[in-house]
Amino acid sequence: MDIRVFEDNLELDTAAARLIADLVTTKPNAVLGLATGSTPIGIYRSLVELSNKESISYKGVSSYNLDEYVGLTPDNDQSYAYYMNEHLFSKIDIPLNQTHLPDGMASHLDAFCNKYDRMLEGAHVDLQLLGLGHNGHIGFNEPASELSAGTHVVTLDEATREANARFFASIDEVPTQAVTMGVGSILKAERILLVVRGTDKASIVRRALTGPVTTDCPASLLQLHARVTVLLDREAASLLA
Ligand code: F6R
Repeated sequence: MDIRVFEDNLELDTAAARLIADLVTTKPNAVLGLATGSTPIGIYRSLVELSNKESISYKGVSSYNLDEYVGLTPDNDQSYAYYMNEHLFSKIDIPLNQTHLPDGMASHLDAFCNKYDRMLEGAHVDLQLLGLGHNGHIGFNEPASELSAGTHVVTLDEATREANARFFASIDEVPTQAVTMGVGSILKAERILLVVRGTDKASIVRRALTGPVTTDCPASLLQLHARVTVLLDREAASLLA
């Protein structure tokens, strides 16, 4: 694993954005696996800035997001579809029909999950951006005795709902379920870019990167991938030897 530690948040955001921008420059039809949450917001801001400055076009790029809440429409400002438009898609020239997110409103969620898997199989993700949950989740693959390889519906851990309640008016409004890519799909990406910040994530960073590979900490499975780049701020890296 290539682990890099940054003193400054803006430098971290710029480094992550640089990796994505360089991929798109060298491979204009790149396939990006994208994440939401608080961690990528600054990365997308830096990516938009870099792309404007260097006239990087995303006309040939396609994207697949990790997850979406069940029951939120794309025009709900807490949905991940809304987030992606707000922070990235509306600010670059990627054609919207080349962007894909799980459909948390699908009337037959299991059928949708199969469809998303078929799309992912045909797509071959070049770079998968990931954040890390406090419990070690990646996407919404929560710790469990068994993990699913493919896209599936997941019941969110109460800890995850509590962590994400900060974006909602109250915890009661946080959906109880989500659709997420499975760990099998995540690990199929050519390259993985894991970004983590904050003292509150220091112990899970240590577990994920240096602990045993276990379904109790889904991010530990990243240790099995040949090409993972980890960008950490000083706080998130503070418990690494
Ligand atoms: C988001 C996602 C989640 C987040 C994780 C960290 O698409 O898949 O795994 O990356 O919950 O969230 P933040 O960045 O808000 O701490």
